[in-house]
Amino acid sequence: QAGEKESMYLVSEFAAKFFQNTMMNTDEGKSVGLSYFKERGFTNDTIKKFGLGYSPEVWDAFTKEGLGQGYKLDYLDKVGLTILREDGKHFDRFKGRVMFPIQSMSGRVLGFGGRILTNDKKAAKYLNSPESEIYHKSKVLYGIYHAKQAIAKLDNCFLCEGYTDVIQMQQAGIENVVSSSGTALTPDQIRLINRLTKNITVLFDGDAAGLRASIRGIDLILEEGMNVKVCTFPEGDDPDSFAKKTPYEELIKYLDENAMDFIQFKASLLMKDAKNDPIKKAELIRDMVNSISKIPDRIKREIYIQECSRIMDISEEVLFNTLAQLVQKDI
Ligand code: CTP
Ligand code: MN
Ligand code: MN
Ligand code: MN
Ligand code: MN
Repeated sequence: QAGEKESMYLVSEFAAKFFQNTMMNTDEGKSVGLSYFKERGFTNDTIKKFGLGYSPEVWDAFTKEGLGQGYKLDYLDKVGLTILREDGKHFDRFKGRVMFPIQSMSGRVLGFGGRILTNDKKAAKYLNSPESEIYHKSKVLYGIYHAKQAIAKLDNCFLCEGYTDVIQMQQAGIENVVSSSGTALTPDQIRLINRLTKNITVLFDGDAAGLRASIRGIDLILEEGMNVKVCTFPEGDDPDSFAKKTPYEELIKYLDENAMDFIQFKASLLMKDAKNDPIKKAELIRDMVNSISKIPDRIKREIYIQECSRIMDISEEVLFNTLAQLVQKDI
């Protein structure tokens, strides 16, 4: 089926070019799509680097163009750029959206994210390509193509939630950044990073959902034998909004000073939440030991138990006993 997959890549790459061209060279594209990205603070270089584009408001503009250029309807369907309607007509999935092509580690276009331009709460903010032979969203990290060298060189990977977080951070000069985009973090995504570095710093949104996702992400990362830090943002900010308003030196300093080891991060939740509540404190300690139990390396487990003991002011012996029970269950 190599031929089939190659055809799907070619259709996707054609589509990316069509969306870019539409945005840069048509009146509608410039006044709607390009001005949207400009408002978000993206420069022309950034727009070009990430191949951002615009899908016209016409219901079959892309489908028509693709067919006209000789691409087979079968492949337009298979990559999900075209959808067959009940009345037998074929229309564009991403009509009237700004487009973010999703690239593989080697730079091929696998699929798209498309954002609506309004903040209409009724419509889905982002639409993504459906699963296909070339696009498995649980195995892809947005931005990996542009980040891979910097991740290896700096031996750390910043992990965000969204497309625009990656783009804004890259534009700000922080290149070792990817996002899980549109899916809860998966082991396959973490393994992709593991090929480049053992160190991940989680940069999720400064809201309740982001906090929950960070907590869940920590255990997954530890399970892969990797090191994880968490850097949180002020309530209401995400890496995109924060990077946009923060000068480079300050941004670097913020990331450096606020990146906490996962034990410290969890301890900081307690400080916020229930400083003097012994029951909550006990729950949190159990939760920390549970995270520690995910670490495959025994020496590292031991070091973290010591740190936990110090920070939470509880004896190592008790912690080791708790750990032993949890690790026992694993075997
Ligand atoms: N997402 C999605 N579908 C949605 C909402 C979100 O696929 N309906 C994915 C997108 O990849 C998005 C990421 O989850 O980038 C994070 O969601 P969110 O924080 O809500 O969006 P932002 O990236 O902050 O988007 P924006 O700044 O454009 O509003
Ligand atoms: Mn496959
Ligand atoms: Mn969010
Ligand atoms: Mn966000
Ligand atoms: Mn955002």
